[in-house]
Amino acid sequence: MLTQSIVASPTYEFAADVRAGLTRPQQKELLSKYLYDDVGSALFEVISFLPEYGLTRADERLLRRHAPDVVEFLPAPVAVAELGSGSGKKTRWILEALCRRQRTSYYPIEISHTALAMCARELGDIDSISILGFEREYLDGLLEVAAQRRHGQHLLVLFLGSTIGNFDRPAGVNFLREVRHILVPGDAMLLGTDLMKSNSQLIAAYDDQLGVTAAFNLNLLARINRELDADFDLSHFKHVARINHEARSVEMHLLSTVQQTVTIPGAELLVEFLEGETIWTESSHKYSADEAFQLARESGFVCRAQWIDEEWPFAESLLIAE
Ligand code: TRP
Repeated sequence: MLTQSIVASPTYEFAADVRAGLTRPQQKELLSKYLYDDVGSALFEVISFLPEYGLTRADERLLRRHAPDVVEFLPAPVAVAELGSGSGKKTRWILEALCRRQRTSYYPIEISHTALAMCARELGDIDSISILGFEREYLDGLLEVAAQRRHGQHLLVLFLGSTIGNFDRPAGVNFLREVRHILVPGDAMLLGTDLMKSNSQLIAAYDDQLGVTAAFNLNLLARINRELDADFDLSHFKHVARINHEARSVEMHLLSTVQQTVTIPGAELLVEFLEGETIWTESSHKYSADEAFQLARESGFVCRAQWIDEEWPFAESLLIAE
């Protein structure tokens, strides 16, 4: 096993993004990528075990059952890049199936240092694997991976867990196009999409009884307190999950339960909140199985195969770059 990691340089982007998001004239917002600091990543791990949140388990079930089928469709030789590896647990099935065929290089790309370390630990015991992690944003990381590719070597990009759903629909297509630009014809992408389900199932999934999702969302304010020296009083904010029927998404907000002023010295900012005003932190768009074919076509891929979990509607689609 070979495990290394390439680390991001420190940046002031967090302060700049917090400032930009909280001074927006209409809907205040915070970028969802900032949910995943060490605390947030650990809380998300817990969310994936909650009975109400079947998404991660459906994703894992499909990969466990169908990894050998996926591998049969792949060009050879192929290296694996994963956008947002998380703990790496569900990736094991694909990597094990591939490693039975060939020595495999695995490049997890992840902004959370802790998740990256966890993933290397989780998967490092697989025979015939070498792991090189990139602590980078998705496209920056993928460009670096592509630069390492050997002559004739193809790439399989894993984009699991329905992270595509966190873009709105047009931005999702654009993102896939950008990925496609980094690839060459014959490269592959395995794309996970969470499928539409009932309103009550969706609300429960994003506002669980135990309050883990609420803690996950509120941690974003706690993180601003920790890193930018702010004075958010978490007891005056409430996690809210709402369905947006038009966008076919679940929106996550942090609602100010009182009129209040918050100071954020690290971003040189003073923010006023009205009672009932919200900060939008994330949206999770839900797809139909057919939409994956359409997404592929619109971004320069063709959808070669698709597997669907019946217990928790979720689709795994194998796209091939044209
Ligand atoms: N990407 C995950 C999803 O959309 C992340 C997630 C789960 C999430 N629960 C959340 C993001 C609550 C913000 C708030 O399913």
